[in-house]
Amino acid sequence: MAGGLSAADVVAWCARWIMLAGITISLGAVSCRLLLGMAGQPYEPLPDRARRSATIGMWAALALLPAAVVRLGTEVVDLADPGQSFSDWVHLVVAMAAHTHWGAVWIVHVAIAVAAIIAFAIARSGSKRAWTVAGLLAAGLAATPAFAGHAASVEQHRAVVVTADVLHVLCAGTWMGTLAVLAAVTLRSEAPTPKRRAPEEWGADIAGLVRAFSPVAMTSAAILAITGTIAAWNHLDTVSSLWRSGYGRTLLVKLTLVGLVLVAGAYNWQRGTPRLTAPGQDGVRAFTRSATVEIALGMLILAVTAILVAMPLPMSMPMDQ
Ligand code: HEM
Repeated sequence: MAGGLSAADVVAWCARWIMLAGITISLGAVSCRLLLGMAGQPYEPLPDRARRSATIGMWAALALLPAAVVRLGTEVVDLADPGQSFSDWVHLVVAMAAHTHWGAVWIVHVAIAVAAIIAFAIARSGSKRAWTVAGLLAAGLAATPAFAGHAASVEQHRAVVVTADVLHVLCAGTWMGTLAVLAAVTLRSEAPTPKRRAPEEWGADIAGLVRAFSPVAMTSAAILAITGTIAAWNHLDTVSSLWRSGYGRTLLVKLTLVGLVLVAGAYNWQRGTPRLTAPGQDGVRAFTRSATVEIALGMLILAVTAILVAMPLPMSMPMDQ
């Protein structure tokens, strides 16, 4: 991306962002379903929540398909000669998909996404087997970026770096993805009505889910920090390239956002959760607001990551680029 940002760069960045968000949210749909089961709340709307999680997972997997087409298109545009014929374009697309390592990973990614759409669609009917398959496929999707990005290109300790990268994306899903899906299936859409239940009951129910989610979020955040540090250690040749290279500075922006999301999460946990069980709906409203901030920051982190993964690594560039 050195030497000015073209329209194709922006389109490719959007497609990578959608890909990372789609993978994160489809993982979140599965872990949200597991959490609902673990919290085992014995009241009526529970099956509804599971169905809505499956629907969100299905749409998230579906979003991966147009993003994949655009990613393939932008990769090909980079290689094409200006003014080449239509048949040359077709030839180039086929060659890219069929004869390169990137193309092989792309085909696997698309195949898993299609299978995941079907598994989530079947899971909407409540099939446990479909949920298990959807979970395995979402984990498979999380593995694909590692095999087509910086992690796969490192010279030393490649197995460690690729494994760390897969774990990193899995934990992005179990933290940010779960939070986003959990909020979508429990907050705004389930405001209490006099016939269904009282606001206090709603607040207590959400507090129960938050308690079940907190250890998952904290474990995921810790693994993200460890695996992210492994990646950064490998991709930055010296500590100073953190501020002296474009890659390092972009990573610093990401880390600032990670810091903010941790502060928002800690606030939600310390202040928001106890208010959920207080009388009235204010606790749920305040919780909804702070959860929205947390999710928006999570999506921004993914947007910055979508820039980071396509940047040249410092060791391959002169400093201050
Ligand atoms: C201390 C915290 C974190 C550090 C140090 C860190 C660092 C990194 C680094 C260095 C990469 C590799 C980029 C590349 O391939 O060049 C990466 C990738 C990534 N990070 Fe993080 N990160 C952290 C937290 C997070 C969080 C909170 C999220 C989720 C919201 C996240 C989501 C991702 C994703 C989805 C990738 C893409 C992996 C790929 O394309 O192979 N990271 N991170």
